[in-house]
Amino acid sequence: MSEQPLYSVLRQGQGASAPQDLAVDVLVGLSEKPKRLPSRLFYDAQGSELFEAITDLDEYYLTRKEFEIFHNHGDELLAPVLNRPFNLVDLGAGDGRKTAVLLERLVAMGADVRYTPLDISESAMDNLVHKMNKRFPSLEIRGLVSEYFDGIRWLSTNSDRRNLVLFLGSNIGNFNKAQARGFLRRLWNALGQGDLALIGFDLKKDIDTLLAAYNDSKGVTRQFNLNLLQRLNDELGANFNLDNFRHYGTYNADAGAMESHLVSLTHQEVHIQALSATFTFEPWEPIHTEYSYKYLESDIDSLARFTGYDVLMRRFDSQRWFCDALWQVQKGGAIG
Ligand code: AVJ
Repeated sequence: MSEQPLYSVLRQGQGASAPQDLAVDVLVGLSEKPKRLPSRLFYDAQGSELFEAITDLDEYYLTRKEFEIFHNHGDELLAPVLNRPFNLVDLGAGDGRKTAVLLERLVAMGADVRYTPLDISESAMDNLVHKMNKRFPSLEIRGLVSEYFDGIRWLSTNSDRRNLVLFLGSNIGNFNKAQARGFLRRLWNALGQGDLALIGFDLKKDIDTLLAAYNDSKGVTRQFNLNLLQRLNDELGANFNLDNFRHYGTYNADAGAMESHLVSLTHQEVHIQALSATFTFEPWEPIHTEYSYKYLESDIDSLARFTGYDVLMRRFDSQRWFCDALWQVQKGGAIG
């Protein structure tokens, strides 16, 4: 038996970003015309909780559809990794509920799996690791607090297990098509020949279904979007009046993306202490806050080929609203 504890959290690289980084993101985004704020800023503690509430909404079909795919096709999707010891590398695990569905099966099958979630937030990682240890007491867990690619590169040199990288829940949808290519190729660089990736894509579908998913009737998505301004009030000493902005979610058919905005309802000036700066908003001026790109089935295979992966499998829910694709790193002439 090894001396290793069953679970541990390792810190790699620079760790969480400083408040100055947030301030610079906001300075750049609000100086842009049209104004914009990056969607990664949604996820403070409150924003992460609101996103989890979104995944429980009737209208937000994405999470349910991915659960359905794992329920009906989980064993098939996992079969190709079972012949060797592997790390289950979880990018953007959130509360880990989706991963738990896969771990349930892996543990039941007696797979030689080490669960390796990666997250930039130390507190999120502590919570996740303890939660998963409680739920799967015999599972080996090695949490990595780091940027995605630092963490994966660290694994590639410090672990001789094969890697199965999870990028679930349409998290890839926040990247435009060019950024998605960049992300996947960086992932390819960090991984080794034969490593695998399981990626969740939200597919193009009836626009009314999309609009409902991002404009839910309980207003949780609205709160999620407005929470971004609350965060700037709390962390940067801004004085946004949240009543003076409305949530607006719309579908851009050209881009193939749902887009979220916060629209100023009046003429207003907002001061941000951390920047010693004041930003003016005109009536009906929008702040763009998120893209959620939707894929055609054919986009998925060409994206894989273009970035250096073989498509091993694609599995869909019964309505073909969502797709989980299993890809394998193909480094061409490389040996091993
Ligand atoms: C976490 C990026 C997959 O784009 O659907 C949910 C975030 N935004 N409702 C998505 C989100 C509005 C979500 N992702």
